[in-house]
Amino acid sequence: MELAIETSALVKVFGTTRAVDGIDLAVPAGTVYGVLGPNGAGKTTAVRVLATLARPDGGEARVFGHDVVREADAVRARVSLTGQYASIDEDLTGMENLVLLARLLGHRKAGARERAARLLDAFGLSDAAGRQVKQYSGGMRRRIDIAASIIRTPDVVFLDEPTTGLDPRSRNQVWEIVRIIVAQGTTVLLTTQYLDEADHLASRIAVIDHGKVIAEGTPGELKSSVGSGSVHLRLRDTAQRPAAERILARTLGAAVQSGADPLTVTARISGSDLVAAEQASRALAELAHAGVTVDDFSLGQPSLDEVFLALTDHPATEEVPA
Ligand SMILES: Nc1ncnc2c1ncn2[C@@H]1O[C@H](COP(=O)(O)OP(=O)(O)OP(=O)(O)O)[C@@H](O)[C@H]1O
Ligand SMILES: [Mg+2]
Repeated sequence: MELAIETSALVKVFGTTRAVDGIDLAVPAGTVYGVLGPNGAGKTTAVRVLATLARPDGGEARVFGHDVVREADAVRARVSLTGQYASIDEDLTGMENLVLLARLLGHRKAGARERAARLLDAFGLSDAAGRQVKQYSGGMRRRIDIAASIIRTPDVVFLDEPTTGLDPRSRNQVWEIVRIIVAQGTTVLLTTQYLDEADHLASRIAVIDHGKVIAEGTPGELKSSVGSGSVHLRLRDTAQRPAAERILARTLGAAVQSGADPLTVTARISGSDLVAAEQASRALAELAHAGVTVDDFSLGQPSLDEVFLALTDHPATEEVPA
């Protein structure tokens, strides 16, 4: 198995903050690899080091075998980065931006236009090709950023939280683009704060917190380590909460969590999806039988918060940057 990215004991410090604190990663070539973590976990810092935009303070990182410090040029020739670093000019149209970048990358005029048109088409931006980027919506902007980053088909694409703040439709479009990119053989390293995003796209996921990898594996392995999902109940009457908690604990054999909202009760379920569904329906029947009124009931995947709680015993809330 060829590795696109390999790090060992990678460290990056800012003053007293160990933003990346000894990270080991092995990203198989040709896959989407998810780096999942809350605000301040060190995702962007790790990506910047891998993309040669920041120098590590310890450990090693290689991209297709090339050291990010000693062979930075070789690394740069193979990677592309999107997000806050994409060099889009807001005053130019989508087409003008892509043509300009293609020209800078050495395409001739006709070739540049052709490449730009193909990308705009693939990313659903043909209709907006003649509009200034500053008039684009957030989702369109994210897509033109990604398009700009793959004008030259790179071996590795870093997508740093490509869907944060997007509505579900735009998010799905970005997901589709990620699938297009990986289908052409490119390796994608994707950072995200959303477990479901990593679950949909990534073959493997590293969960990071405070600069350290706290779990690594396939999405299935990660989810089953915290139970296959959660039951969320919303009660009509807070007085029925103790009864609801008792019934859930008994039928699900799981720890019941009481959130801040006195009307909601959450319990984790372990086992396969099928077992989870079966257990959940039994719990519902028993609640009805006991006369507990349930206004809302859902069976969901564990959230990143729940994954974190299970892995670290602390919630995924982080210091807000000053
Ligand atoms: N240039 C910098 N100078 C000082 N501290 C920094 C710098 N860049 C990042 N940090 C700190 O390093 C830690 C990791 O930050 P980083 O931006 O890598 O997190 P992140 O996982 O990308 O978070 P987010 O989800 O909010 O983008 C944070 O504590 C942050 O405040
Ligand atoms: Mg970040």
